[in-house]
Amino acid sequence: MTTATTEGTGALLGVYKAAGPVFTGGEGCRLIAEDGASYLDFCSGIAVNSLGYGDPDVAAAIRGALDAGLIHTSNLYRTRPALQLAEWLVAHSFADRAFFCNSGAEANEGAIKFARRWAREAGGDERNQIVSFRGSFHGRTMGALAATDRPAYQEPFKPLMPGVRFCEVGDTAEVDRVLKTGRVAAVIIEPIQAEGGVLPVPPAFLKALRYLCDEAGALLVFDEVQVGLGRTGTLWAHEQAGVTPDLLTLAKPLAGGLPMGAVLLTERVACAVKPGDHATTFGGGPLVASAALATVSKIGDPAFLAEVRRKGRLLADRLGALSLGSGKVSAVRGAGMIWGVELTEPTAAQVVERAMEAGLLVVGAGPNVVRLLPPLVIGDDELARGVEILEEVL
Ligand SMILES: Cc1ncc(COP(=O)(O)O)c(C=O)c1O
Repeated sequence: MTTATTEGTGALLGVYKAAGPVFTGGEGCRLIAEDGASYLDFCSGIAVNSLGYGDPDVAAAIRGALDAGLIHTSNLYRTRPALQLAEWLVAHSFADRAFFCNSGAEANEGAIKFARRWAREAGGDERNQIVSFRGSFHGRTMGALAATDRPAYQEPFKPLMPGVRFCEVGDTAEVDRVLKTGRVAAVIIEPIQAEGGVLPVPPAFLKALRYLCDEAGALLVFDEVQVGLGRTGTLWAHEQAGVTPDLLTLAKPLAGGLPMGAVLLTERVACAVKPGDHATTFGGGPLVASAALATVSKIGDPAFLAEVRRKGRLLADRLGALSLGSGKVSAVRGAGMIWGVELTEPTAAQVVERAMEAGLLVVGAGPNVVRLLPPLVIGDDELARGVEILEEVL
């Protein structure tokens, strides 16, 4: 495939190694480049574009907000979209309250603050630690970064937020020991460690965390920034483990591609958070909340989710066959529309690059894992084609 390749990021700050074509449009599950080349998108803007490109309902919701002249009001004033979105999220989850912000990292910052606020009231000043896990990724802002197990991302920015203890996924005894110090405000975990290599956390471990947190008087936070809102085939990834958290963080697909994050909380935790404790100027503005309402209404439809599960099984079968046939795949894991293809050698970056050359967009998750995150609306034929291209590339 010939593409108008633009190396480098021009005047943009060079924190990304963006290369490849300049994209000018999107259609369904395809991105269109400046030279007209079309790419099958198994990246979805890193798990954001769950409804693909050009969803008419999201577009209509955004137009509706624009027509009403209401892009932003600040949280000094109430608007219908934010109230309705909070009601929808509460009605469809364990939570009693929702807090809106602008990204995944910011959602985790909020969750850490809410947990510490609650713990101070419930357990005193000493109860302020956060337990996180090896392999985790929670974002790049200072608190979220401190809870992220990536020494290379952390090192240049030390000192980080103090009070984070890392445990091994699956090691209940270690978590129990740390919780028994009486100093832990919250345990934060992704039900599937996505950036860490698409590593599903065993449901039994999530259940054990719930039990241990209850026993120790600590809160349980699930970070579903990447795997929430239908990505795994159920509205919430934690549904599949039969465990509910005290706080849930969301972002990526929430507002159909517009930047938005959320923290969902139980009343017990919400009661500790007082006016002025936390805030953000843009969070839950009417434009993004309108887009989010349109997005969650579609994703939350049980028939839509059943389709994601069906297509997830299809993708699992095809990837299983690819794994057997290629000799270059050591494992395939995931659920719904998030899959990790673990390679026998650390060649994920090369595979991502070659796939792009062949017209397929995928993303790495560490040196050995190619991550597939197709839009949830992808068709069976497109799924098959994507795996076919990946097979050719391997
Ligand atoms: C599980 C998880 N948490 C938090 C984040 C950070 O989200 P954002 O990039 O919107 O700040 C990410 C981003 O990849 C993520 O995968």
